[in-house]
Amino acid sequence: MASKAQIEQYEDQGYFIADDAVVPEMLPALTEATRRVADKVRSGEVVDKTDKIGTGGEGTAPVVIMGVMAPEFGEPIFSDYLASEPVERYVHPFLGEELRLGWVTAFAIQGGGYQCGWHRDFGAEERDGSYEVEMEILSRYRKNLLKWHMALIDDPCLWIVPGSQRRYRTDHEREVLISNKGVGDIPDAKQIRLKRGQTIFWNGNTIHRGVMPTGMEERLTLCGCLVKHQADDPSETLDERFRWRLADNVREALPEKVRVYYDRWKRLQIVD
Ligand SMILES: [Fe+2]
Repeated sequence: MASKAQIEQYEDQGYFIADDAVVPEMLPALTEATRRVADKVRSGEVVDKTDKIGTGGEGTAPVVIMGVMAPEFGEPIFSDYLASEPVERYVHPFLGEELRLGWVTAFAIQGGGYQCGWHRDFGAEERDGSYEVEMEILSRYRKNLLKWHMALIDDPCLWIVPGSQRRYRTDHEREVLISNKGVGDIPDAKQIRLKRGQTIFWNGNTIHRGVMPTGMEERLTLCGCLVKHQADDPSETLDERFRWRLADNVREALPEKVRVYYDRWKRLQIVD
């Protein structure tokens, strides 16, 4: 399970890396499944749209595939992975044992050039707040979840400013994030070089970016997330990236444990 040192590193630095958060035998199967999913998106056999997963449409070059768990892809291994013992072993110390979805999605990029500039994962929250505003968001936002990236091939794309989830942005960071729209260098930023099979559990409140280095031709990395569930959790506005999960055929395709996660999630959704 997550060691005391790892938990402390997560609290202090905003991340830690685990070598054993995936069943070794599952790694090749997940890699092949992700490639098949990406091929289906590319050919249009499956159309990965956030509002509805379709079949038989126009092919597109995937970047992040949001619907890998959808039955249209025919790859139950992604849900099995979410419910797998090593994932639980790392998630339970942070969130307890009562959980809800969460997600599994996949970076499946072919050809170079992917870039996502410096930002915090603040959703619709204020991105240029005063000290008080930003610190309030950091103290509250997404405290009930744990998310991670698991590299299916070596992945050096994620950069993190360690510890930035606990503090107000510097003047220089504001310059880069706001004035320069995420482009530029940030001192003390750390490039995370994941080896195949390694998992980084990290806090999206950190200042971070994603960049495919020159010469890198493929990014194949799973993203996962689970959420702490409590009986009195308030309803929440549906995250539009997951509207497709409201379709009738989604639940029945899930393994029993993930069905529980799904039901808890679905019950809380406020849907327009
Ligand atoms: Fe992000």
